[in-house]
Amino acid sequence: MTATTQLQCVSCSRQYPLWELRYACDCEGLLELHTDLSGQHSLKELFEKRLLSRKLLDRSGVWRFREALFPVSAEDCVSMPEGQTGYYEVPQLGQWAGHERLAFKHEGENPSGSFKDRGMTSAVTAAKKLGMKLLACASTGNTSSSLAAYAARAGLRSLVFLPAGKVSLGKMAQTLGYGAVAMAVRGDFDDAMRIVRELALAGKVYMVNSLNPFRIEGQKTIIWELLQDRNWQAPAWILVPGGNLGNTSAFGKAIEEAYTMGWIAKKPRLVTIQAKGASPFYESYQKDFASLEPMAAETIATAIRIGNPVNFPRAVKAIQHTNGLVSVVTDEEIMAAKAAIDRSGLGCEPASAATLAGLKQLVQAGTIRESEEVVAILTGHILKDTDAIMKCQDLVCHEVDAERGAIERALDRFL
Ligand code: F0G
Repeated sequence: MTATTQLQCVSCSRQYPLWELRYACDCEGLLELHTDLSGQHSLKELFEKRLLSRKLLDRSGVWRFREALFPVSAEDCVSMPEGQTGYYEVPQLGQWAGHERLAFKHEGENPSGSFKDRGMTSAVTAAKKLGMKLLACASTGNTSSSLAAYAARAGLRSLVFLPAGKVSLGKMAQTLGYGAVAMAVRGDFDDAMRIVRELALAGKVYMVNSLNPFRIEGQKTIIWELLQDRNWQAPAWILVPGGNLGNTSAFGKAIEEAYTMGWIAKKPRLVTIQAKGASPFYESYQKDFASLEPMAAETIATAIRIGNPVNFPRAVKAIQHTNGLVSVVTDEEIMAAKAAIDRSGLGCEPASAATLAGLKQLVQAGTIRESEEVVAILTGHILKDTDAIMKCQDLVCHEVDAERGAIERALDRFL
């Protein structure tokens, strides 16, 4: 099957060889990997068997599905190994949202603390195969952390473009600590994205943002692994936060392929949740996706502070093909949901909490019904943005003298 994998334009369907270095079709449409998937039902059994394997690539929650991604040799794979994230049913969060049938897939459990590692193992593996030496991305902090880590593992250089002053300290430190060269761009994420695109088209860098079709391939495995967690019983709904819309695009492709290959009997409906101050996809959805109007984005969820998502055409397809929808939540709703997730012991960064906030709204509106199972994707770890916790939650930390009597008096007062 893998021999027939090609690059294909999402707009005009024109095909190019898999290992041709290009980011877009001649018509400027986005590219995705296309594989002839007919007769691949039995792969599911292979993926199940690998759960018992001790081989590095079988233990990776990405490369476990390698036959349905793209052909690579084990030596070329740059893997930590990522994925294998937890699947959690948390009744107290179900009660919080008013919907009992709720589970979470916690992608913050990846090696660098966000879902980006799934797409980065595939993009850096492709970069190595293509002989690239300098890998670059625009980022709000998670893609850059992930790129820096995987490039370091592969012995390649990484160059990252971040919106100056708008990246959390933890993500900044992580990115630099792994050894990336960082440019703090005086502008926003969308400016940084424009610059990386220009540099990539000029042949100066290899771009690993989610415009890169190999990124999307790795990110598909969030869906496949969660289906595997559920013994291949699809939930009714899957909720994911949306910024640059790489995940939304990858999820749409993963669902379509799982259905085509006969791994699932019905398609889950995909819901992308955006922050109100950064909601161009939602605005477009309101107008039947007639156009995308870029906006100046602002939200406390800095990971998704994006006003001009480059994956728009792919993401539209994902929502349409899954009979999905797009919703929007305020920063206040995001932070209330985050506090609930943190207090449940799961914890996440603000952008991830948009899912729970969105669920609450959709349940109240009657869109998601009581009988329907929901899986929400938590995209980043609680430690990714500690500022957001310290500023926005009621925290209990009393300074006391290092003396038992003082502590007992304090306990009497506060407990
Ligand atoms: N959640 C988190 C924690 C993220 O870091 C991002 C994106 C998203 C959700 C949105 O995902 O872009 O696929 O729609 N972060 C990018 C970055 C932009 O640079 O780290 P998307």
